[in-house]
Amino acid sequence: MKSELEQDILKVLITEDQLKARVQELGDAIYDRLEGKNPLFLGVLKGSFVFMADLVRACQLRSNVEFIAVSSYEDATVSSGRAKINYDIQRSVEGRDIVVVEDILDSGNTLSFLCGYLKSRGAASLTVVTLLDKPARREKAITADLAGFTVPDAFVVGYGLDFAQRYRNLPYIGVLKPAVYEKKEP
Ligand code: IMP
Ligand code: MG
Repeated sequence: MKSELEQDILKVLITEDQLKARVQELGDAIYDRLEGKNPLFLGVLKGSFVFMADLVRACQLRSNVEFIAVSSYEDATVSSGRAKINYDIQRSVEGRDIVVVEDILDSGNTLSFLCGYLKSRGAASLTVVTLLDKPARREKAITADLAGFTVPDAFVVGYGLDFAQRYRNLPYIGVLKPAVYEKKEP
């Protein structure tokens, strides 16, 4: 029988096995780039928390773990493309090699704001790692240094990503049934 959460999923886009294999490749790539550097892995809350947990274990460098929470300012008519910090990093980033860990690169507003913020605080280097890349909706000229999977222009959930703060605990990446968006019972 399908679980409560699985009943809301139209299809599985990326399986647990695919995620595991790709996260290890990303961990290896980060290791090769930053060996000997003592990087600071910076997870962008909340969506990156599952990816972050697996990625740091897939990369056995001497490193630190920090989190930051960023949200976009929105007004009634249009997303302004600006962002604000809701929870800040608990240590200095000055002179540090930062690995920014994001769940999905969509419009690019969050990451372009965050990269500017980290540079202004004196980060020595930035390596942007995103699990998912949705290039169809990009508004800012930003690319990730490392991206796990390119996804189509559909709303995806699971492995940390939410819809209305739910589905983060699905172990795979899936597409929601339209009925869930339309707030009808599926
Ligand atoms: P941005 O548009 O690149 O600034 O992305 C902002 C944030 O929107 C991401 O970090 C995600 O938390 C969220 N987001 C964008 N697309 C999706 C999606 O398909 N599913 C779940 N969250 C998403
Ligand atoms: Mg996010």
